[in-house]
Amino acid sequence: MSSEKENISYQKNDITLDSSDMEKIDNDSESDSTGDKDFIVTPWEVAGDINYSKLIEKFGTYTIGNTLLEKIKDITGEIHPFLKNKYFFSHRDLDVVLDEYSRGNRFYLYTGRGPSGMVHLGHLMPWLFTKYLQEKFDVKLIFQLTDDEKFLFNGNLNMKTIQKYTYENVLDIISVGFDSKKTKIIVDTKHIKYLYPLSIEIAKKITYSTAKAVFGFSNSSNIGMVGFPPVQGAPCFLPSIIENRPTPVLIPAAIDQDPYWRVTRDIAEKLGYPKPAQIHSKFIPGLSSGGKMSSSKPDTALFTVDDPEILETKIKNTFTGGQPTVALQRKLGGNANICPVYWYLNYLFDTEKESQERYSDCTSGNLLCGECKSDMIIKIKPFIKDIQTKREKAQDLIKDFMIDGKEFFDNGNASFN
Ligand code: TRP
Repeated sequence: MSSEKENISYQKNDITLDSSDMEKIDNDSESDSTGDKDFIVTPWEVAGDINYSKLIEKFGTYTIGNTLLEKIKDITGEIHPFLKNKYFFSHRDLDVVLDEYSRGNRFYLYTGRGPSGMVHLGHLMPWLFTKYLQEKFDVKLIFQLTDDEKFLFNGNLNMKTIQKYTYENVLDIISVGFDSKKTKIIVDTKHIKYLYPLSIEIAKKITYSTAKAVFGFSNSSNIGMVGFPPVQGAPCFLPSIIENRPTPVLIPAAIDQDPYWRVTRDIAEKLGYPKPAQIHSKFIPGLSSGGKMSSSKPDTALFTVDDPEILETKIKNTFTGGQPTVALQRKLGGNANICPVYWYLNYLFDTEKESQERYSDCTSGNLLCGECKSDMIIKIKPFIKDIQTKREKAQDLIKDFMIDGKEFFDNGNASFN
């Protein structure tokens, strides 16, 4: 893969803060953005032209290099396409977790979702990889839904709407095909009792000054926002409680979540838990020029609930890296680096060789955008159809996946009986 392919233009999926929330986060000069004018990456804002190598430097994470890939291959016998094509590109302590695994100490996986809208392709990708890891390493998974986070950080969302999205998102999570015996879903507002004891342990060790520096809180942030990070940190330590011994955790997540793990790692050993390890993904471009793939801009996102005709129309209308006319495309070639269709095919459907050919055919003018779009349409329709079929059956499986073994709409009413 050529190095210029590393820098792609994108906007994060589902940026849900309204402008007043943004001010709250941004007006602190110590905010943990990258500090780079060209791009910003925080848990609440991802914008601009991301230079992933620079991001690794700024965040102090590590590139997933060949030695590490070989180590993975030694255990699993292969290298997953998401590692080959560097969709998962950065880590913290992945080597440590793998070494422990080789010594017979199984890790837990932990990932999550902020239920601020319906699920689209960009959300599914890390989950597909998480499922793959679950299968290959035969390990347990905790899946957190931070409905509280989305409520506290988003001025426009009320709990009723968030609950609807949470339910819909749970169906998607189940559709990915995780093993229900080895996967437990935690919905923060429903299952807080599993997290609360750990959250307060974490909270007690993090000062407001650290939280402010890492997350950019200011005097106008609501106090729920300030108190939230330990809730996302808690599942890092829950496996040690469940297993009753120090249990390593590996978190597959987009790199914007790193600040949470940074503060959690800082205090882990003080509390007697292993530092959570991470494997970080890049972001997926939306189907528009620099526009974000967002539930609030449905034309730029391919949702798991979209009908086939809708998928087709969206892809036909998408922005690409192509020239305005066929003649110009033939003469000048397209720009695959900025083309969402190229990237979706690269990440999900093309083999390494097919993607390389597509790249050179596009940039040399041999390939027209219509051809890539039709390849994408042919691939995406059965892919989404398969998820929809599984989604229909997912409702019956909810109980098996919930950490309390109850139905999603079980209100758990308080009573004196
Ligand atoms: N904060 C994440 C979001 O807004 C959700 C989340 C919670 C998460 N725990 C996680 C994501 C663990 C990845 C890994 O989407």
